[in-house]
Amino acid sequence: MTQDELKAMVGRAALEYVEAGQVVGVGTGSTVNHFIDALASMKERIPGAVSSSEASTARLQALGIPVFDCNAVGEIAVYIDGADEIDPRGHMIKGGGAALTREKIVAAQSRRFVCIADDSKRVEVLGRFPLPVEVIPMAAQRIVRQFAALGGQAELRHKDGAPLVTDNGQHILDVRGLRIGDPLAFESTVNQWPGVVTVGVFAHQKAQICLLGTSQGVRTLRFDGA
Ligand code: A5P
Repeated sequence: MTQDELKAMVGRAALEYVEAGQVVGVGTGSTVNHFIDALASMKERIPGAVSSSEASTARLQALGIPVFDCNAVGEIAVYIDGADEIDPRGHMIKGGGAALTREKIVAAQSRRFVCIADDSKRVEVLGRFPLPVEVIPMAAQRIVRQFAALGGQAELRHKDGAPLVTDNGQHILDVRGLRIGDPLAFESTVNQWPGVVTVGVFAHQKAQICLLGTSQGVRTLRFDGA
């Protein structure tokens, strides 16, 4: 099976976690795009979705699925999103698609995070994937130096020859060379640095369930007690 077929498989499998009559939280990325396409088949049974990016909003609306603002809904029953890495406790690195801030906001408003990923995303220790960090532009170079002090090499992400601008009007640093052995502590520390909007470690907002796409089928990993 190709990586895209694995992503499609878990995207479809996530439908099982969508609760009829409840607004669903929707993440961002190529795996979630498969989920959104599958969600269209049950759109009559849900009021709509809360979205974590302009890209996902556009895809949802094109399929006739209403999109609500976070402030217009209360607690969200379930949030479905992909990951760039997931460790054995359900901690993740996210933000490869630059949507990490809104992803963390929707995840924080949700009772349950169901991660959908192909099995290449599973790691023992977070840090092989360059860590995305959304930053206020005027703080970027100071934050680069703060990561250097931790042994990380941070670079400003570019798109079409210019610094990438997120849906929130900010920039993204990608940090290589980190080994994140204590994701909870790391996330708390970096969140305190002035100018950091969001660090792409999802430990405080970790997954409770991961649907992992493997060549043998979908494996369900549960992290509730981890
Ligand atoms: C988007 O900002 C990310 O957090 C995605 O969830 C992550 O990059 C996974 O993307 P794919 O599903 O495209 O691999």
